[in-house]
Amino acid sequence: MSDSSTMLDAVAYVAEAQAVLEAATSLLSIDDVESNFLGKKSGLALAHRTLGQLDPEQRKTYGAVLYGIRQELEGLIAGRREVVAEIERSAALKADQLDLTEVIPGLVSTVVRRGHQHLISQTQAELEDVFVGMGFTVADGPEVETDWFNFEALNIPPAHPARGMWDTFYLELGDPETVVLRTHTSPVQIHLMEEAVAQNALPIHAVMPGRCFRRDTPDARHLHTFHQIEGLVIDEAIAFTDLAGVIQTFTTAYFGPDISSRLRPAFFPFTEPSAEFEITCTICHGGGCRTCSQTGWIELGGCGMVDPAVLSAVGIDPERYQGFAFGFGIDRCAQMRHQIADMRALVENDLRFIEQF
Ligand code: PHE
Repeated sequence: MSDSSTMLDAVAYVAEAQAVLEAATSLLSIDDVESNFLGKKSGLALAHRTLGQLDPEQRKTYGAVLYGIRQELEGLIAGRREVVAEIERSAALKADQLDLTEVIPGLVSTVVRRGHQHLISQTQAELEDVFVGMGFTVADGPEVETDWFNFEALNIPPAHPARGMWDTFYLELGDPETVVLRTHTSPVQIHLMEEAVAQNALPIHAVMPGRCFRRDTPDARHLHTFHQIEGLVIDEAIAFTDLAGVIQTFTTAYFGPDISSRLRPAFFPFTEPSAEFEITCTICHGGGCRTCSQTGWIELGGCGMVDPAVLSAVGIDPERYQGFAFGFGIDRCAQMRHQIADMRALVENDLRFIEQF
């Protein structure tokens, strides 16, 4: 029979455990506290083993005291675990954080730079403005075309030698060589004329800007992916002089009075007569340079009177209606207007170039 002096001092036991717990700053050290104060070799476990030697009344009281200690310690340990777990979690998160400004100094710039429209888009908008000012509407059409729109309806039958004028990208959709990336914006003429016929909405006075594609090797004056703006007028009593007047008015409006333009006889299957439209090279002012291949002139595009065969192909009566069409390079216009010696600069995305415009 043990006397009360060997009994566990509940208050002291709990106070000691509490002090050690508070000093524990890791989950592992809390495990230690738990086994030291609640485990098989703990003072509590030892005290438990003495219960058997007590008389029933004492056993009951002392048993309840020991149970109370266990309960209280379990609560304290669980509480401390939560606190320490939270501390450990935020420490781990903090350690995992990657401060990019430390890794790559200067990566996060404090200057917010403002973007702007690319020169090609600006040029397209300016060209549209010029033509809208002359009474044209603006339309667009698909970049992927069937052979019929890109060639056949434009009076270029299959295997016609004139197809060699356009090195074509073919898409592998359906029958071979039937679907193309449009090589010019002229197929939009066909779309507009077909719509106008279907809706009985002639005349047409429209410009059609858009992206075109050719299997060309890029050089100072060519890109394989480039932009054209097409013009189409279909009306009654339209003559070549109307076309020449529009080209002249456009040149002066866009390039200014110092730039001369000229029309040279040319051939396009969908216009008759046809002409090439050139302006003075703005890089050398006509003296001859690499950009203009020493000619002093830069070809902007082609034009002519719409061939009656094209009108017939879309169901317009060529006896009643005539028209003219033109198509020229938007990128080429930007190049000449801003004296860009090499057109490839437009698509190289060098900020030092882009920011100049
Ligand atoms: N589509 C022609 C080309 O890209 C240009 C053109 C348009 C010529 C309209 C005449 C009429 O080469």
